[in-house]
Amino acid sequence: MGVLHAGNLTRRVGCAEVGWVIDTAAERAEQTACELGSAWTTDLDRALEDPTVEGVLLATPTNLHAEMVERSLAAGKHVFCEKPLTLELETTLRLIDQADAAGLVLQVGFHRRFDPDWLAMARWSEAGELGQALIFRASQRDMVAPESTEFLASFGGLFVDAVIHDLDCARWLVGEVNEVQAHGASLSSPTYGELGDADNALVVLHFACGALGVIDYSRTAGYGYECSAEILGARGTIRLGANQQSHDVRWLRHGVQSVDHPLDHQHRHAAAYLAEVEHFAEAIQGSPPAGATGEDVVQAFVLAQASARSLLAGHPVRVESGSREREAAS
Ligand SMILES: NC(=O)c1ccc[n+]([C@@H]2O[C@H](COP(=O)([O-])OP(=O)(O)OC[C@H]3O[C@@H](n4cnc5c(N)ncnc54)[C@H](O)[C@@H]3O)[C@@H](O)[C@H]2O)c1
Repeated sequence: MGVLHAGNLTRRVGCAEVGWVIDTAAERAEQTACELGSAWTTDLDRALEDPTVEGVLLATPTNLHAEMVERSLAAGKHVFCEKPLTLELETTLRLIDQADAAGLVLQVGFHRRFDPDWLAMARWSEAGELGQALIFRASQRDMVAPESTEFLASFGGLFVDAVIHDLDCARWLVGEVNEVQAHGASLSSPTYGELGDADNALVVLHFACGALGVIDYSRTAGYGYECSAEILGARGTIRLGANQQSHDVRWLRHGVQSVDHPLDHQHRHAAAYLAEVEHFAEAIQGSPPAGATGEDVVQAFVLAQASARSLLAGHPVRVESGSREREAAS
């Protein structure tokens, strides 16, 4: 993700310049810096000491976010951090407070909030033409599950790492969620189950407004990447389809029509990934906030943690809006 964001900032965001590429993998840092015409280092502090650096974009393994965000804010830099902000609620709250107190931007990578399709869905939903919301559905599918145990140990598990996007969208589009119940299976490798995680999962949601929701997630959908959703309302339905592509090429034979699928999230969400870093650069220059607020970041994380706990506990977990989850009687 770091290479993607740095490339977007350098080549496509007029008001931004990438001063440093930082990666403990020196070869990767040097190669990326060379391509972008930036300086490079393996040590974040070198960049933090540079007074011309105004903002830091962090796309390191998730278990490193907390410490790196804290150091960057302490150095007076604005921060864009990939999601999830941290792996602990207390730390998440503390960093948001730290940024607020210092008057610094702390943007978290909930890129769908900048995606044209999801934004259109939000506009329709906010316009009130759906009538009462009845059912929210979201599907997210990756083609191939990550195999490395290093990834599994450092990214926080399926719900906190990935389903968090759908949970954030559920709140954004329908409203607060009171209860989650997760089901999961470890189908591509027993490792997921051994770690208390899953590679395929369902989360059933109960919204405060009375609507129901269901999210399905697969890390092992061999056909391609999918990110689709629907809000079923009493007067209308908004549906975000599965095949969003920048082109529309179909293969037609008698009785058969096939459509290409995005390969992965970078392919599907290219516009959103650009728009979110463009916003970060503009926010540093004082443009009004957009995307997920600190409260959104916290609540999406609370729901993700509640889902992970529900999977382990085998029963629903209640979530009080604005507070921590508590387990529902099974
Ligand atoms: N928003 C999204 O759609 C999305 C998609 C994928 C990943 N992510 C998030 O992005 C983050 C990175 O994920 P990724 O898939 O790009 O991981 P990655 O493993 O591909 O890249 C992480 C990079 O960080 C470097 N690194 C490790 N420790 C470091 C340190 N101490 N200092 C500097 N560099 C260090 C690694 O060498 C590596 O190049 C994660 O938090 C992940 O959740 C978000």
